[in-house]
Amino acid sequence: MKIYVTRKIPEAGMEILRRSFEVEVNPEDRPLRRAELLSKIADVDGVLCLLTDRIDAEVFDVAALCKGFANYAVGYDNMDVVEATKRKIPLSNTPDVLTTATAEMAWALLFAAARRVVESDAVMRSGQWQGWGPLQFIGQELTGATLGVIGAGRIGRAFALKSRGFEMKVLYTDEFPCLELEKELGARRVPLRELLKASDFVSVHVPLMPGTQHLIDEAAFGLMKKTAVFVNTSRGSVVDEAALVKALRDGVIGAAGIDVYEAEPKPAEGLAALPNVVMTPHTASATVASRNGMAVKAAMNLVAMLEGKRPPDCLNPGIYEQL
Ligand code: DGY
Repeated sequence: MKIYVTRKIPEAGMEILRRSFEVEVNPEDRPLRRAELLSKIADVDGVLCLLTDRIDAEVFDVAALCKGFANYAVGYDNMDVVEATKRKIPLSNTPDVLTTATAEMAWALLFAAARRVVESDAVMRSGQWQGWGPLQFIGQELTGATLGVIGAGRIGRAFALKSRGFEMKVLYTDEFPCLELEKELGARRVPLRELLKASDFVSVHVPLMPGTQHLIDEAAFGLMKKTAVFVNTSRGSVVDEAALVKALRDGVIGAAGIDVYEAEPKPAEGLAALPNVVMTPHTASATVASRNGMAVKAAMNLVAMLEGKRPPDCLNPGIYEQL
C-alpha cells in the first residue's frame, strides 16, 4: 500500500512506515501548498499529515482511496472530524507524548517573560550594558504568587503540577473538577473571570474549538492585573491577538510568552516590536523525546488504520461501532 507524508518527520516514525508501506514524502522542508497536497493524495491509501494541512471535505473527495489520516500533532483543529466521521474515514492524533515538553515550554516562556530574559539578552549582545544598576530589568517573582491555569486537561495539569517548587496558589478553570490538582496543590476551580482577576500568571491550555475561539479577548485582558504575565502554548486563535498587542502596548497586562499565533507563520501586526513579549515559533513540543514519540504514534496509528484496525489514538472511534 502507498502512503503520503506531507513533511519529513523524525526517522523513528519514518522507519515504521517504510517497513509496512511504499512511502512518498514531501521533499521540501516547508508545508505543502493546497494544490500540491491535493495532487499528491489522489492515489494513496493513507496520509500522515501535519497541523499545517487542512484536512476537509475537499481532501476526502480527492483522496477517494484513502483509508485514514494520521495527524502529527495532538491538536486537530486542522481536521474536519464531523465530515470524516460521516464518510467513515478514521482520523488520529498524538496525545500524551508531548505533554511534558509543552508544559515545560509554558514554564520557559513564563520565566523568560517574568524575568525579562530576552530583553536582557539583547542588551548584553548589543554591547550596551553599562554595568549593574538598581533599576535595571526589574521583573515579577514567582514564589508565592497566584498561578491561573485555563484548562486542566493533560497539558494544563502537567503545567500546574510543575509549580510545586514555587509554593504558588493555583487557580484553574475547567468544565470538570480536577481532583489531582486539588489534592496535590490545593488548587481551586474558579470561574474564568475570577481566575483572570486574581492571577499573577495566566497560562492557557485549551484546545481550539468553536467555544474557545478568542476565549481571551480584550475584555479578558482588561480583567487581568496590570502586572500579569500571560502565556499561550495552545493555539493562536484561542487568543484575540490584536487585543493581546493592545494589552501589552497599553500596559493593560505586564508581559506575555507566546508560542502560537492566529495566522502562522505571521505574528499579529505590532507584536514583534514590543519589548514585553517573548515569542517562540510554535515549538512547545520540539524536544527529541516528544517529536520522536509523535512520529512513532502517528506512524503506528496509520499502520493500524491501513490494516483495518481501530488506531490507538482514534479521533472518531464511533465509526468502528457503526461498521
Ligand atoms: C500539537 O501537537 O498540537 C502541537 O501544537 C505541535 O506539536
